[in-house]
Amino acid sequence: MEKTLSIVKPDGVKKNIIGEVVARFEKAGLKVIGIKMISLTRAGAEGFYAVHRERPFFASLTEFMSSGPVVVMALKGNGAIKKVRDIMGATDPKKADAGTIRKDFADSIEANIVHGSDAPETAAVEISYFFNALETF
Ligand code: CMP
Repeated sequence: MEKTLSIVKPDGVKKNIIGEVVARFEKAGLKVIGIKMISLTRAGAEGFYAVHRERPFFASLTEFMSSGPVVVMALKGNGAIKKVRDIMGATDPKKADAGTIRKDFADSIEANIVHGSDAPETAAVEISYFFNALETF
């Protein structure tokens, strides 16, 4: 059983598709093991995306991620990391496959509706960024 962290970003919350995103994960057999809505401060978004600190899009990305509430969720299942990434589609919605969340709903490479961890080590760090030991199981 693998765990991963996903975020419905501010654009996904504004578009009223929190349930749609969760439903796609659940239909793929993933179990939601922790979920909550939070508003990220700028510093909170900068901390989460610290690995991207040197990228040209860092300021814009962290401004966007702190522009409205997000829904963070921890998911569990066989091959959870790849499953979530397959369901999300490519980072750039123009390159995303048909039937993926980003192809269906995303407006741009930045406002791309949803985040998913890219590896087990990242997933562990990202889950513990948002959930304490009492909140996941
Ligand atoms: P995410 O999967 O959350 O991981 C990093 C995020 O940075 C990514 O989704 C996009 O929202 C954003 N991102 C990645 N590449 C670019 C880019 N070239 N321009 C703007 N935003 C980007």
